[in-house]
Amino acid sequence: MAATAPRVAHRRSYLMCRPDHFTVSYSINPWMQPSTPTDTARAVRQWQALHDAYVELGHEVQLIDQAPGLPDMVYTANGGFTIDGIAYGPKFRFAERAGEEELFLDWFVAHGFDVAVPAEINEGEGDFLLAGDTILAGAGFRSSKASHREIGATTGREVVPLTLIDSRFYHLDTALTVLDPVVEDGATTTIAYLPTAFDDASRAVLAERFPDAIRVGADDGDAFGLNAASDGLHVFVSPRARGFQAQLRERGYQPVPIDLSELLLGGGGVKCCTLELRI
Ligand code: ARG
Repeated sequence: MAATAPRVAHRRSYLMCRPDHFTVSYSINPWMQPSTPTDTARAVRQWQALHDAYVELGHEVQLIDQAPGLPDMVYTANGGFTIDGIAYGPKFRFAERAGEEELFLDWFVAHGFDVAVPAEINEGEGDFLLAGDTILAGAGFRSSKASHREIGATTGREVVPLTLIDSRFYHLDTALTVLDPVVEDGATTTIAYLPTAFDDASRAVLAERFPDAIRVGADDGDAFGLNAASDGLHVFVSPRARGFQAQLRERGYQPVPIDLSELLLGGGGVKCCTLELRI
């Protein structure tokens, strides 16, 4: 039974961006209130704790420098989607983040990726999550449906489109976590998700494909609990998502609570600050 399956940590390679220029100077999601003061030093300390937790648990973290005037660059999940040495670049929905596109593409080129420059609006791993061999793809607020076709053609992977309907959960990675980054041939990965963030058709697809999924409650969703990163054993997650942590423990995962409350002022959490690098 899934509940007692032994969990195994797999070494991950992540791209992160220290929030040296973090602030909230515009609003492009409901969490962002430019009138609320931000504390950049606190954002850096919280971010550093996530970085150090990854490194202590054996993961490789690479860094991209934050450019002044691009406060959302800390959310590297939006910087692209990588697989098999290919980096499919981002094309942001809002002009405020467009300056990040070239910086991420340059980073991928400098680090040996085959870069695919997108024609379609997409926000990288914010909306594309690899589940086994399949890419779960979000649309509704940021990435376009056309980008779902584009990433499928670029990567050769099956793409499962999902529609988000709650503006607080505007990226797929705010409403769904893939818990097993590596699965044996033919096995399915465990996912967790917030059912209310999806339309009926998407809920039906998720129920059919992932009958063993962890369904997370509203409080944990509100605490940005689904915006988590997992190595297959350790799940880096908001400390306020208590119910979700209990569900994870029941399934044999080990929650690693990381408080990123300052970065939540920009509408981001653990996963937003983490981009998987699949060489
Ligand atoms: N302020 C950023 C935006 O609205 C937050 C991005 C969060 N990233 C994520 N992968 N969910 O674009």
